[in-house]
Amino acid sequence: MKLGMLTSGGDCPGLNAVIRAVVRRAERGMNAEVLGFFDAWRGVMDGDYETLTVERCRGLLPRGGTILGTSRVQPYQFEDGVARVKESMFRLGLDGFIVIGGNGSLGAARDLTADGIPCVGVPKTIDNDVAGTDVTFGFDTAVGVATDAIDRLHTTAEAHERVMVVEVMGRDVGHIALHAGLAGGAAMILVPEVPFDIAEVIAVVERRRQLGRYASIIVVAEGAMPIEGTMAMPEYEVDEYGHQRLGGIGVRVANELERRSGVESRTTTLGYVVRGGTPSARDRVLATRFGVAAANLAAAGQWGSMVGLSGDVIEAVPLEDVAGRIRGCDLEMYEEVAQVFFS
Ligand code: F6P
Repeated sequence: MKLGMLTSGGDCPGLNAVIRAVVRRAERGMNAEVLGFFDAWRGVMDGDYETLTVERCRGLLPRGGTILGTSRVQPYQFEDGVARVKESMFRLGLDGFIVIGGNGSLGAARDLTADGIPCVGVPKTIDNDVAGTDVTFGFDTAVGVATDAIDRLHTTAEAHERVMVVEVMGRDVGHIALHAGLAGGAAMILVPEVPFDIAEVIAVVERRRQLGRYASIIVVAEGAMPIEGTMAMPEYEVDEYGHQRLGGIGVRVANELERRSGVESRTTTLGYVVRGGTPSARDRVLATRFGVAAANLAAAGQWGSMVGLSGDVIEAVPLEDVAGRIRGCDLEMYEEVAQVFFS
């Protein structure tokens, strides 16, 4: 058997752990060869790859980023994209591809499989918004990094009796904000799934100041939105792949807070910090298990599926059930937290 493998979309800690596990399983357990393509589908279309061996993967487990590089390039963006992928696949004698990616990449993997390019998916993203799995690798590390930052921000907020607004990534969902905000003791957490009222945020901050608990940390997901008409919104550009370039809601919340309440407010935007560096132990374990399971799905010819975690079991999930869906944060959990802590 000969497999192609690629990492696609935004990077996250754990990608190299998946690569290492796929190669280990393929070489030692399946007598299969793995070609790693550079910069996702760009490398496949250009025939730009390296043969991956267990030796080549030594030391990868704790390394952030991806040795294969990544991009948001998809074959369907090019008139001859699918043909170029097929040409590479046949010329190199590949049986199929292991695609490590988020929603966009997994949707493309579903379509490519239907177009005669067999794919197995591995769900990846710090956003944790992929349906069909309880969690994606990258998420635990992002929450840990954000929580550590929030812990540090408490002391400087208290020293200056300031409100500190912390903006975190997550694109259109609030998983990172909700978990890191809860773990970090935020006074309020603003997520895209629940449009916020800035007046309510101000009321919580002022109540806390009256009680003497003056240093409020407000965690804001980059995709959070105010209730229509309650405050001005940033204008987001759209990148070449149709994604909004989010960022800036944290500053607007801080400015509006300070303008309307007079409370000194500052903003920290964590941005790409939560996407960098070494994966947490939990992400290393999940990524390793996903990699082995993905190689097994390929060996079994279960193309058109992805590995997904259900409880502690890794299952094969049809890409058909995943494509085009996103999994928002748990609103029951959000309400639990809001009832008790946002006061
Ligand atoms: O999807 C992962 C993610 O980090 C999002 O949280 C964020 O909005 C987006 O990628 C940023 O995309 P890029 O790396 O292309 O700027």
